[in-house]
Amino acid sequence: MTTDLARTPILRIRGLGKRYGNRWVLRGVDLDIDTGELVALLGESGAGKSTLLNLIAGLEAPDEGEITLAGAPIHALDADASARVRRRTLGFVFQAFHLIAHLSVAHNVAIPLLLNGVEQADALRRAQDLLARVGLGARAASRPSELSGGEQQRVALARALVHQPAVLLADEPTGNLDPATADIALGLLAEQVRERGAALLMVTHSEHAAAIAGHRYRLGPEGLASA
Ligand SMILES: Nc1ncnc2c1ncn2[C@@H]1O[C@H](COP(=O)(O)OP(=O)(O)O)[C@@H](O)[C@H]1O
Ligand SMILES: [Mg+2]
Repeated sequence: MTTDLARTPILRIRGLGKRYGNRWVLRGVDLDIDTGELVALLGESGAGKSTLLNLIAGLEAPDEGEITLAGAPIHALDADASARVRRRTLGFVFQAFHLIAHLSVAHNVAIPLLLNGVEQADALRRAQDLLARVGLGARAASRPSELSGGEQQRVALARALVHQPAVLLADEPTGNLDPATADIALGLLAEQVRERGAALLMVTHSEHAAAIAGHRYRLGPEGLASA
């Protein structure tokens, strides 16, 4: 027997709108993503792609509309409540990485586990495993500033995956990577979707990256459309 709950997608967006001053950046955005779905989001620079991800993560508040993430009404939650949902549910590869400068690479990757109460030695072990998978096993003790842009991007990817989140938001996650390293990154994202049933929303300008997606949308002045 199916219930309404079972039919609710892990991410549901209805009538979403966001403006800065009197300029609407997003308006009338609807989107459903189910578990096990891999969705690519295309669109010109300035179209509002990063803004959309920030709204989904509860890092910014919408001016209109509703976002339901893993059953939680993100648009209606206060900062503490949305942080709890984010910590439990979400992995986010930020366009600008947002690594913490004074922490080692391994500690940066371990943060989602530590926030979820995993004991430090275990968290660091799991961080180290994931760093090895992105080819940075030898850089665990480095500071982020000692790494190249592409290396920092892979640390950001490892941090987004380490707690095996149900929903992954990735903002141009291969933008700083060479083709071979990009394939490793895409493989890890796809694995989280296929083997662990995560949902992935990936902003990308890369045809190669978009090719792994089951659905593609383009964000433009008219809103979100299938692409
Ligand atoms: N905090 C902000 N204040 C004012 N304008 C913003 C802010 N953040 C983004 N914008 C504007 O919103 C638009 C969409 O930005 P963004 O979501 O970063 O686009 P994209 O990721 O698609 O390139 C841009 O015109 C950008 O300048
Ligand atoms: Mg952006």
